[in-house]
Amino acid sequence: EKADNENLRSPICCIMGHVDAGKTKLLDCIRGTNVQEGEAGGITQQIGATYLPGENLRDRINRELKVHVGLKVPGLLLIDTPGHESFMNLRSRGSGLCDIAILVVDIMDGIKPQTVESLKLLKMRKTPFIVALNKVDRLYGWKTCHNASIVKAKNQQSKDVQNEFERRLTEIIAQFKEQGLNSNLYYRIKRGENEEKREKEEKGEREETISIVPTSAISGEGIPDMLLLLVKWCQRDMVEKLTYRDKVQCTVLEVKVNEGDGTTIDVVLVNGVLHEGDQIVVCGMQGPIVTTIRALSTPHPLKELRVKGTYLHHKEIKAAQFIKIAAQDLKNAVAGTDIYVVGPNDDLEVVKELTMGDKESVMNRIHRTGEGVYVQASTLGSLEALLDFLKTPAVNIPVSGIGIGPVHKKDVMRARIMLEKKKKEYATILAFDVKVTPDARGIADKHGVRIFTADTIYPLINQFKAYIHTHKE
Ligand code: GTP
Ligand code: NA
Ligand code: MG
Repeated sequence: EKADNENLRSPICCIMGHVDAGKTKLLDCIRGTNVQEGEAGGITQQIGATYLPGENLRDRINRELKVHVGLKVPGLLLIDTPGHESFMNLRSRGSGLCDIAILVVDIMDGIKPQTVESLKLLKMRKTPFIVALNKVDRLYGWKTCHNASIVKAKNQQSKDVQNEFERRLTEIIAQFKEQGLNSNLYYRIKRGENEEKREKEEKGEREETISIVPTSAISGEGIPDMLLLLVKWCQRDMVEKLTYRDKVQCTVLEVKVNEGDGTTIDVVLVNGVLHEGDQIVVCGMQGPIVTTIRALSTPHPLKELRVKGTYLHHKEIKAAQFIKIAAQDLKNAVAGTDIYVVGPNDDLEVVKELTMGDKESVMNRIHRTGEGVYVQASTLGSLEALLDFLKTPAVNIPVSGIGIGPVHKKDVMRARIMLEKKKKEYATILAFDVKVTPDARGIADKHGVRIFTADTIYPLINQFKAYIHTHKE
């Protein structure tokens, strides 16, 4: 048992919630970065990933709360997810990967549709979570207390602000109750209360009380409390799950086609060690991809994986960590699937079969009909999101072909087939968050293939709808 405690991996924590609740801003506050303001339309459209090392975690907690945390986890791996309704697949992927989650709720808005959807995902996967009741600084008359514990910050507010806080808190607790969940301010949950409830739950009775931590992602109130709560929880209740194991467990977060250095995959290594030169099998759209790890890199600690920057290179990396893998033939890798390392005693054919196992569910979303537009996106994740969206009854745009990465000549040639099928309006490429090469642009103009580009979903769809509308007179 003691050995277990000394060999914990970093927990993977997913940030979920309704659009604009402040998920990315909370991460910015923890990291000391400004990723959110660099996002197109201020909307997260990809899975984000950041490593928060133990020393930063300890600093952040100790400096304010003056408690000494006996830190047993090496650090915290944070996954950012989009709140926009069209990114259900990425929320689902994020929540499927994590050990623990933070559900962010805007104190001014309460529970919204994607809060409920997130709750369903967390419940389905039995993921423990806490609630960050964010934007407390927006309460009228709030006095800023930078990075203070929420108890201290709250005590410094006027009676009016405190009353307003209590009123909104009570309302949101009632909204959670409507969703079948007990919740309370984390420091109002009685010691032993949850242990008792857990026992009852085993007998099939009640749910335990979810901890609410009020936060501000702008001025930092409540952030130390939130981090302490996460660490304590992991180290007290999740020791078994977080005990490091040698057997490689690794999931593809995103597939990225980078102009210049080919395709890389971003993965989360949950357990085990990866080495440069390891033979791996990755689930591909057209079948298993057998390849060799050419390079392993990680972003610097506290840096967001999805933001281009410099990377640290490694000969080998031990779990848990977010990693960028460079290898040949990764172009058709399917995000959300597990990758396997081929060991010396493994039968490659068996490993290939294992790898393709969970492909079905992902591929079902990439539904192709004979006639329709051509869709091109920067990552498989955003492609899946766009396809899901095009399929909704309100939009209902058929898709005949898909691709990731910049739009090349060959993509235009494929879209052009629709002209021959007398479906002129479908001779169109919806290019989502990708560049169009000059060559492709030239060929498209010549043959009458339309290319619509945008870096957010709605403008892209609207351009196409307006075009279809005029096209049909
Ligand atoms: P999506 O990723 O698009 O779902 O949004 P998100 O949940 O990541 O929210 P984001 O971090 O983009 O924040 C949305 C807006 O709310 C931004 O304008 C932020 O500056 C603002 N915001 C976030 N947190 C706070 C907060 O604690 N206080 C205040 N006043 N504004 C906040
Ligand atoms: Na946002
Ligand atoms: Mg965001």
